[in-house]
Amino acid sequence: MLLPVKILITAEQIQQSVQQLATAICHREQGRPLTVIAVMTGSIVFLADLIRKLDMPLRVGVVQTSSYQGTRRGPLRINSDMMPDIEGRDVLLVDDIFDTGNTLFEVVAELDQFAPRSIRSAVLLLKQGKQEVSFIPDYVGFEIPDEFVVGYGLDYRDAYRNLPYLAALEPADLEGGMP
Ligand code: IMP
Ligand code: MG
Repeated sequence: MLLPVKILITAEQIQQSVQQLATAICHREQGRPLTVIAVMTGSIVFLADLIRKLDMPLRVGVVQTSSYQGTRRGPLRINSDMMPDIEGRDVLLVDDIFDTGNTLFEVVAELDQFAPRSIRSAVLLLKQGKQEVSFIPDYVGFEIPDEFVVGYGLDYRDAYRNLPYLAALEPADLEGGMP
């Protein structure tokens, strides 16, 4: 498989941004214990880096969602079986990318049913001009143009998650074109 060469954000830039996000989160939460809930699978690398920069008590859990088949959107499925109890807890929801926003919007609605004390959300990336929901995440690492990006946990058909940087796939790399 050919590696995508159009690097959008370098590994160093990502680490700087994750540090800034962690500092902002610690400052705002002021030492209150957090339950960090990561949206699998795209957020695994971001989660691993972010929690190691959060100097505060926290628990970690995951929910699984999937909506993309390649770059085509299918129906959203949410599986919260692997999530710890969040009743009365301050939750930080972590995802890789905020595109239309439908995924996080629906996950927040799902988590709300478990009666947490608060839910805030952090994403590494936000695609400019794509949002279809009225809500935006509390913490955003980078705003990026509307391109299909891979690396640092993000995939195209389950490939490229292990790249340490973020790259944009060229239209020619995408079978069937952009979503
Ligand atoms: P949304 O519901 O449109 O905000 O999409 C969010 C989910 O779609 C993310 O959690 C990603 O899993 C996936 N996604 C959206 N854009 C991209 C992309 O450019 N590359 C890889 N995955 C993406
Ligand atoms: Mg995702």
